[in-house]
Amino acid sequence: MPNRRKEKAPAAGSSRRSFLTKLWFALGFVALAEFIAVAFAFLRPGKPAARPENAEAIVTAGKIDAFAPDSVTAFVRGKFYLTRLADGGFLALSRKCTHLGCTVPWVATENKFACPCHASAFDIGGNVISPPTPRALDIYPIFIENDIVKVDTSKPIKRSEFKAEQVTYPKKVSDRITG
Ligand code: FES
Repeated sequence: MPNRRKEKAPAAGSSRRSFLTKLWFALGFVALAEFIAVAFAFLRPGKPAARPENAEAIVTAGKIDAFAPDSVTAFVRGKFYLTRLADGGFLALSRKCTHLGCTVPWVATENKFACPCHASAFDIGGNVISPPTPRALDIYPIFIENDIVKVDTSKPIKRSEFKAEQVTYPKKVSDRITG
């Protein structure tokens, strides 16, 4: 009987040691996996901070009523003209001549945009009234939020000529009530 006890004691110790060794391996493996996951998350390039699309390119022009019908307002930021047509609609015109790219000033006394480089001229809607330029001034998308006119200068839109559907109109009060 005493001999049997001596034989069992080492077997139990060996089993405990084996269990502890496996436990340490398992814990080590978990710690290593966690370290790799943290390192990967740290090194992986993250998404840029959330911000509205084209936020820097959006120019807040001002309240609708700040622009009289049949007027042209120059904006340095975004390099465009906000024109308000006689019927109250808005257009945002690029100030870059569509001939060879000179900056086109608004000449109020002549009621036109007159390019100083080769004498092309455009009306208040950006339509060509004198060549050599082949097409109308580019426009930018306009959107009106809470009676504030905003222009997205990230997307110049090329066009051959002025068309009525290019004009952005403020919503009438009756339209706002019905949605
Ligand atoms: S660049 Fe304007 S007319 Fe030539």
